[in-house]
Amino acid sequence: MIISAPEDYRASARQTLPRFLFDYIDGGANSEVTLERNSCDLREIELRQRVLKGSLDIELSSQLWGQNLALPVILAPVGLTGMYAKRGETQAAKAAERIGIPYTLSTVSVCSIEEVSKAVSKPIWFQLYVLRDRAFMKDALERAMAFGIDTLVFTVDMPVPGSRYRDAHSGMSGPNAGLRRILQAVTHPNWAVSVGLFGQPHDLGNISAYRGKRTNLADYIGWLGENFDPEISWSDLQWIRDFWPGKLIIKGILDADDVEDAIALGADGLIVSNHGGRQLDGVSSSIRALPSVVKAVDGRARVIMDSGIRNGLDVVRALCLGADATMIGRSYIYALASDGQSGVENLMQLYKKEMQVAMTLIGAGSLSDLTPDKVRL
Ligand code: FNR
Repeated sequence: MIISAPEDYRASARQTLPRFLFDYIDGGANSEVTLERNSCDLREIELRQRVLKGSLDIELSSQLWGQNLALPVILAPVGLTGMYAKRGETQAAKAAERIGIPYTLSTVSVCSIEEVSKAVSKPIWFQLYVLRDRAFMKDALERAMAFGIDTLVFTVDMPVPGSRYRDAHSGMSGPNAGLRRILQAVTHPNWAVSVGLFGQPHDLGNISAYRGKRTNLADYIGWLGENFDPEISWSDLQWIRDFWPGKLIIKGILDADDVEDAIALGADGLIVSNHGGRQLDGVSSSIRALPSVVKAVDGRARVIMDSGIRNGLDVVRALCLGADATMIGRSYIYALASDGQSGVENLMQLYKKEMQVAMTLIGAGSLSDLTPDKVRL
């Protein structure tokens, strides 16, 4: 398959992956209205074409909490990444390190904190869910600290898992799910050999390390169900702030009215996110929520935006509307599933080129020129 645009990787991933995995990545909650809105609303933001205001060698690097980012893009935490490519978390982290951007490891990764950290030379970022089992959370944070990890992404938009109806249709869950997954695997032999066979163990690395026994897909779904706690409130998070000495980034803020609580907790950063349209269907797109959150934060924390970013132009749009950086989920997962580490590296080169071309054509010589006047809403 010819890959010339970042979006080409989606079609390639669809060919490579068994359906239950492709749909698990690609799908959203309920009728997928918010999923669609996320990228539609981004695409609808007009970039203002300005002429003869170009500059040479547009620099895309920036700093977040003293960390250098070669591009204002961070790889988002994505559960089960090691099911989409052989030891997928490790390959994604290596790609991020080669490019010079952060990689965020999910709580529910296949590869453990230890496996991924040993594969790279600089500390990764780690994401934690709000869970009932506080001992698990402490154990995970201590293991992260042992590897010098000092950026914690704390996800707050999943007190209960969203309703992902595609999963029952595809075989991720639902009747005869195990049998259906096997049938899909045998009809995708490249995946079956590379990931199904040689990508083992298909464990939940962080959870197995804590429980002291292997954890499979059924355990994963069961563990998620048992451990998400709809009753958790902001005050329950204070111990995390007290326990974690590093940077704390709250992921999943979509409403300006939640900003004060996050700042009062002592957040160093917020991620404007609706979990890629996988939680409450019908909520606003992230890009529409971004300007009001940026205004409410008023410089007291750094603001990252995710959900719907599919290419370099989307990154430019988000930065124009006030984001300090963006996170991408599906976009890099499609590239990883298609071509592993080199797919992710190539994807980021495509983003970089698209950003530089766009910035030339809107008359922005540097990231600091990406201001609201460069777009029309
Ligand atoms: C996610 N996301 C996610 N977020 C998180 O905090 N922890 C996690 O384990 C996961 N797992 C996960 C799995 C899959 C398959 C997807 C697609 C997403 C959400 C993710 O971090 C990010 O917020 C969204 O992916 C952003 O939207 P886009 O870029 O995918 O549109």
